Amino acid sequence: MSIRNLDDLLAEGVSGRRVLVRADLNVPLDKQTGEITDDGRIRAVLPTLGALVQAGAKVVVCSHLGRPKGAPDPQYSLRPVAGRLGELLDAPVHFATDTVGESARTTVDALADGQVALLENLRFNKGETSKDDTERGAFADQLAAFGEAYVDDAFGAVHRKHASVHDVPARLPHVAGRLVLREVEVLSRLAGEPERPYVVVLGGSKVSDKLAVIEALLPKVDRLLIGGGMCFTFLKAQGHEVGTSLLEQEMVETCGNLLARAEGKILLPVDVVAADAFAPDAAHDTVPADGIPSHRLGLDIGPETVAGFTAALSQAKTVFWNGPMGVFEMPAFANGTRGVAEAITKTDAFTVVGGGDSAAAVRSLGLDESGFNHISTGGGASLEYLEGKTLPGIAALEN
Ligand code: 3PG
Ligand code: MG
Repeated sequence: MSIRNLDDLLAEGVSGRRVLVRADLNVPLDKQTGEITDDGRIRAVLPTLGALVQAGAKVVVCSHLGRPKGAPDPQYSLRPVAGRLGELLDAPVHFATDTVGESARTTVDALADGQVALLENLRFNKGETSKDDTERGAFADQLAAFGEAYVDDAFGAVHRKHASVHDVPARLPHVAGRLVLREVEVLSRLAGEPERPYVVVLGGSKVSDKLAVIEALLPKVDRLLIGGGMCFTFLKAQGHEVGTSLLEQEMVETCGNLLARAEGKILLPVDVVAADAFAPDAAHDTVPADGIPSHRLGLDIGPETVAGFTAALSQAKTVFWNGPMGVFEMPAFANGTRGVAEAITKTDAFTVVGGGDSAAAVRSLGLDESGFNHISTGGGASLEYLEGKTLPGIAALEN
């Protein structure tokens, strides 16, 4: 990779210098309490932040959280993240209540060597996500003023052409952080010549979100296992009735064409867990994939499917998994996701989990994270990488 990384910056010496770090601290929050439900993305950026602190830099961290509409919105404040980051770093994190305003300026000015500041949510500012180059550029100018160097460690956001990702690196000496470096190393191994058999497991709710990656992966993989909400559009394309399951009617023909072209590489569920309602306590049964009752909806893959997927995975030398197999947040419909995750950890393949949801599933199901070779912090970003797209955040680091 022709990208400079954190070690290059550290070798130049950062003591007493202000270093602006773009992190992806977009963590899930509990809707009721506002508490952080999974801090994986905060922990993922600690190696970079820790190294900068150790080297005596004045570390200015910025991130987005959720999708506020270009203006302050308290439910998307990064304040709770500052608290958690401080606990994990075991050092105070000075929180600025705005992103580039008075509070940010005073907070950054007051930083001593080896101290850390976190700016308020980047997306409280219109310029961050603007499609207008001038508006984005003006915001990037303000952000860039907080650093003498820029580190991108926000892998989950490298597919966004946003000011903090794409325009700030054009204004400052820039390097990839430890997380971005590791993510790109791992994903480039999958995108290059993965050891075979290469088995990909895809889940999640919508085929339309995954269509591009399916198209790109089909020629590369030996097996593509499909579960999650999107399997029902494929089952429909095979001519099965899917009851009231999630269905993208306008994608049925596309799925049929993919199946026809896949030369048997695509494996679909042979049984599903079908329920009366989308509810944790809904009545449910395992039924054959071609026998979903008309009043029921599939909320998980069934045990026979898990067994079939496990057999395919046990042969693999390389595995990529993105997207849950069912509604894993509800214990009654978590067995498919758990079963597939366990099967992946049992192979001796090189295993990569891609995506916010799948990574959160691994942790919330209490699975051992060390059973996977790599858990990517990027959902959209890892898929777009595997599609072979140019990612604005990576391209900006290459220049
Ligand atoms: C994510 O959660 O996928 C990343 O943080 C990017 O967020 P976004 O999809 O809102 O741009
Ligand atoms: Mg996303």
